[in-house]
Amino acid sequence: MIVYDQTKRTFFLHGKSFSCALRVHPAGYLVGLHFGGAVGEDDLSYFDPSPRELSFSPVPPDVGSYFSLDVAGNEYGSFGQGDFRAPSAIIERANGDRASRFVYVSHKIYGGAPDLGGLPSARGGETLAITMKDALSDAEIVLNYTLYEDSDVLVRNAEIVNRGKTPVVLRRAYSFCLDLAAGEYDVLRLHGRHNMERMPERTPLGHGSVKIGSARGASSHQMNPFLVLLERGAGEDAGECFGFELLYSGSWTLEAEESPTGSVRVTGGVNDLGFSWTLGAGERFVTPQVAICYSAQGMGEMSRSFADFLRGHVLPEKYVYAPRPVLVNNWEATYFAFDRETLCALADEAASLGMDTLVLDDGWFGARNDDRTSLGDWFVNEKKLEGGLSPVIEHCKQRGLKFGIWFEPEMISEDSELYRAHPDWAVGRAGVPRCKSRHQYVLDMTRKEVTDSIFARMSDILGSYEISYVKWDMNRHISEFYSNGLPAERQGEFAHRYISGVYALIGRLQAAFPDVFFEGCSGGGGRFDGGMLRFFPQFWTSDDTDAYERAKIQWGTSYGYPLSAMSCHVSSCPNHQTGRTTPFASRGTIASLGATGYELDPRKLSEEERAQIKEQIANYREIEELILRGDLYRIADPFEGNVFCVAVVSKDKTRAYVAGMRVHAEAGDFDRRIRLKGLSLEKTYSIRELGLSLRGDTLMHAGLLLPRLPDFGTWVWHLSEKS
Ligand code: DGJ
Repeated sequence: MIVYDQTKRTFFLHGKSFSCALRVHPAGYLVGLHFGGAVGEDDLSYFDPSPRELSFSPVPPDVGSYFSLDVAGNEYGSFGQGDFRAPSAIIERANGDRASRFVYVSHKIYGGAPDLGGLPSARGGETLAITMKDALSDAEIVLNYTLYEDSDVLVRNAEIVNRGKTPVVLRRAYSFCLDLAAGEYDVLRLHGRHNMERMPERTPLGHGSVKIGSARGASSHQMNPFLVLLERGAGEDAGECFGFELLYSGSWTLEAEESPTGSVRVTGGVNDLGFSWTLGAGERFVTPQVAICYSAQGMGEMSRSFADFLRGHVLPEKYVYAPRPVLVNNWEATYFAFDRETLCALADEAASLGMDTLVLDDGWFGARNDDRTSLGDWFVNEKKLEGGLSPVIEHCKQRGLKFGIWFEPEMISEDSELYRAHPDWAVGRAGVPRCKSRHQYVLDMTRKEVTDSIFARMSDILGSYEISYVKWDMNRHISEFYSNGLPAERQGEFAHRYISGVYALIGRLQAAFPDVFFEGCSGGGGRFDGGMLRFFPQFWTSDDTDAYERAKIQWGTSYGYPLSAMSCHVSSCPNHQTGRTTPFASRGTIASLGATGYELDPRKLSEEERAQIKEQIANYREIEELILRGDLYRIADPFEGNVFCVAVVSKDKTRAYVAGMRVHAEAGDFDRRIRLKGLSLEKTYSIRELGLSLRGDTLMHAGLLLPRLPDFGTWVWHLSEKS
C-alpha cells in the first residue's frame, strides 16, 4: 500500500513486512527517513537532519543554516551541493556547470508498473512516481517506486528529462539512491570467472566504498549485479539484510558507501565508465530497474523473497511455471565434430532414455567446424548436415523428440560472409584493428540495420523448421565500445544502446515465435541477471558441470535467483572443465536442483548409467513442481564445511525435497546431523528413503544423521506429509 500523508508531507510504502518512509523536507528535498521493518504512519520529522553540527558539510543557499545534503537521507543524490557521497546523476550543461539540487514538485500513485520503453521491467504492483526538478538546471527527475503488497521487494528506477531548450550531457545516470540508517554492516557480493560464477564473498563494509560492477558490456561472470547489506550479526536465518539486484544485463555498477556518520548509501545502475548521454530538448533517459529486498530473517528469507518476486513479476509469464524440457545437448558429446548420422544416433539414444528434446549446439551453420569462422552466417551447413536440418528434425519427431538449436546472435567472425559484406557492422572503428576474443568480434547491436538483418536470418531458420527451443549464447565481452553508426559525441552511449538493442531483438523474436522456449547462456552463466530473466525462463548456469563445483555455483546463484531459472546438466567424467571424476548419481542429484538436462554422449553410457538416467528423469518430473514453485532453504554451506545440503519445500509445507553432498569421506564423523528447515513444526512427514515418519519439529530441531558416503557422494530425501 502506498500512502501520502499531506500534513506530514510523508510517503509511506508498506510492503509485505517492510515499510519505506520518505518526507518532503520544508526546503523541498526528498528525504528518506526509514527503510526497514514495518512502521506506523507516524510523524517521523524528528529524523529530519536539522539542526545538527555540520562542520565541513556545506549548506545549500536556500535553507536555514542547519541543513546539509551531506547528512540527509537523499532519495536521489545530487552533485556539487555539499553531499560528498556518490551522486546519482551528473548533468553537464553547455556552460560546463554540473551541480544539481533536486527538489520535490509533484507525485502520482497508480496501479501497475512504469513503462520503461524497452528495458526489462517487473510486471504489476502499484507505483509511486515522484517528480523532482533540478533547482540549478532544466532537468526533471522522475523517481519510480513500484510496490507489491505480497512481497518484500521494492522496485525502483529513475528517469531524467531535459525540460530545457538546449542539450545537456549526462555523465552519470544511476537508477536509485538509498541511504540506510547508521549501523555496523557487512556486504555480500557474488564474484567469479568463467566456469566459476557467483561465488559468495562477505566482508565488513567499513568506511568508504565497496563499489562493484562490470565494464564489459555484459553483466558478466566476474561480478553479478547483486549486492547485499547485512547487519553485522545477520546470517542465513536471522538478522536484517537488504538485497539489491539490477534488472539489467549491460555494464553496471552497485556501490555501498559508509559515510563518516555511519549511514550507508547504496546506489547504482548503468556503469558510468566511459558513459555519456546527450539529452536533447524534451528527451528522456530511462534508467534500469533495481529490485530492493528487505529481510528481517536473514539471507534465506531474502533469497525466497527474490525468488518469488522474480517468478511472479519478472520471468516470462507463459513459461515460468511450465514443465521444462529435459534435453540432451550435443556440445560436450561432439563439440564441432558431428554430421547427420551422429545427431540421429544421439536422438535414438535420447529418446530411448526418456528425454524430451535434442539440442543442436554450436557448429551447424556457415562453414563452422571450429570457433574461428562463420558467426553471423545463420544458414545451415549442408556439407556437414546432408539434406540440412529437416532429416534430423524428422528423425527426432519420429522418436517423439523435440528439436532445439543454438545461436550466438550478437557475434560476427572475421571469416564470415557477413563480415566480408559488412566489416563496419563489427563493434570498433572501421579500419582500425580490433581486439578478438575466442577469435570473434561483437556485432553492433546499436544499429537497426544490424538487428534487422539478424532478425531476418534467425526468423528464416525458426520459421522454416519445427524448432521448439533456442539456446541464445554470447561468448565474449566488448572491448572497443565504438559504433560506426553513431556520431562522435554519442560514442559514450554505446554500451547502453548495445544492450537495449539486444533486448529489442530478443523481444522481437519472441513476439514472432511465441511458442519457442528460449534459454539464455553466455559462456555458461556470464549474463545470469534479472534483465535476461525477463526474457529467458532459464539460463545456463555455468559451463562447469563438475558436481562439486556446480553445487557451489548453484548455492551462490540461489542467493538472488530461483532454482527454476538455473539450467543444470549431467555431464560425463572425467569432467571436461576440472578433470575430476564424481559419481554419476551425484551429478544427477546436483542437476535435479534446477531445470535438468544432459550434456554428454548418450551412446557412451554404461547400462548402469542408462538405468540411472531413467531414474533421474523420473525423479526430476516428480519434484518439478517443487523446483518451479517451491521455497529454497540453504542448510549446509559447502563454502564453510564438508557438506552441501539444501531443501526445497512446497508452499503448503506438505512436501519437501532434500538434496546434499558429502564432499570428502571422513572417518569417525558418525554423529553429524542435518537439521532440516522450512517444514511445519506440527506436521508429521514420511521420509521415503529412510522408512521413517517424524514430526517437523523433530526434523528441524533434532535433525537426521548425515549419511555415510564416499567422496562427492550425494543423497536425497523425499518428504511428504503423512496422512
Ligand atoms: C558456450 C556455452 O556455454 C556452451 O554450452 C556451448 O554452447 C559453447 N558456448 C558453444 O560454443
